[in-house]
Amino acid sequence: MSCWMIAHRWSNPLVAPCPRLSVCGAVITQFVVRCNRDVSSVAKASSFPLSSFESSKSDAVIVTADKKYGSKQVISVTPRLYEYILTNVREPQILCELREETSTMRGSQMQVSPDQAQLLAMLVEILGAKRCIEVGVYTGYSSLAIALALPEGGRLIACEKDAKSLDVAQKYYERAGVSHKVDVKHGLAADSLKSMILNGESCSYDFAFVDAEKRMYQEYFELLLQLVRVGGIIVLDNVLWHGKVADPLVNDKQTISIRNFNKKLMEDERVSISMVPIGDGITICRKREN
Ligand SMILES: C[S@@+](CC[C@H](N)C(=O)[O-])C[C@H]1O[C@@H](n2cnc3c(N)ncnc32)[C@H](O)[C@@H]1O
Repeated sequence: MSCWMIAHRWSNPLVAPCPRLSVCGAVITQFVVRCNRDVSSVAKASSFPLSSFESSKSDAVIVTADKKYGSKQVISVTPRLYEYILTNVREPQILCELREETSTMRGSQMQVSPDQAQLLAMLVEILGAKRCIEVGVYTGYSSLAIALALPEGGRLIACEKDAKSLDVAQKYYERAGVSHKVDVKHGLAADSLKSMILNGESCSYDFAFVDAEKRMYQEYFELLLQLVRVGGIIVLDNVLWHGKVADPLVNDKQTISIRNFNKKLMEDERVSISMVPIGDGITICRKREN
């Protein structure tokens, strides 16, 4: 991106990177607690012996250096490392403010993390996406990141059943100057997606992000696969489900449905896939030609 483009994009100060991200104690503290829980649950769940969870001098947790994988040292994100990652996230000021307002609300742990939002925006930019869908908006953090990444003529269909959360989201779309790009569908997401298909919108979307009811993932995926064009992308959040998917002792309904969904996706030849351990884990799916 040229300097001109950077200056142009950030001419609205609310869209410029937030200088406070690296010192945002609330986010980091919250994540530290979650991270500690996650590392121990992965250690418990995995078939690797505990001795393979080494702490190196740099504080990185090496989760495997198995010869099978060319002795490649795979590391896990520690609280300190995550803090460092956050210092390398360019979170726009408006997203920072939305995150801070959301942190005072019930359910704030549902919001995607700043590094996840940045990755979603990056995918939208790489794709040159113009038509996007989000399933599960909450107060709008991920949808605002997507809308900011869309070009002027771009459109995001934002599906959410909770009116109160949508009020917050819409306030921030307005403040960020992107409300003309966002078409809010208040109601059950599956119903909205079905009516978009009935409306003849199949194969017309470039990008979709799924972050709602976990037991509905398979249904959302099937509907979105119809709505997204060949080469389009569907990203699904929470595919690692706090590490529970890898723990055979955890068998609650949500964990089982995410585990089953991941297994089915692994065998699904209609898409190319990449599971990425960012936030609570995402899977990026790219629709293949039939
Ligand atoms: C994990 S939160 C979304 C977080 C959001 N992506 C963010 O980054 O801030 C999930 C949201 O999905 C909504 N939701 C759950 N089931 C839904 C359904 N069947 N239809 C529409 N929205 C739903 C919930 O009300 C909640 O706001």
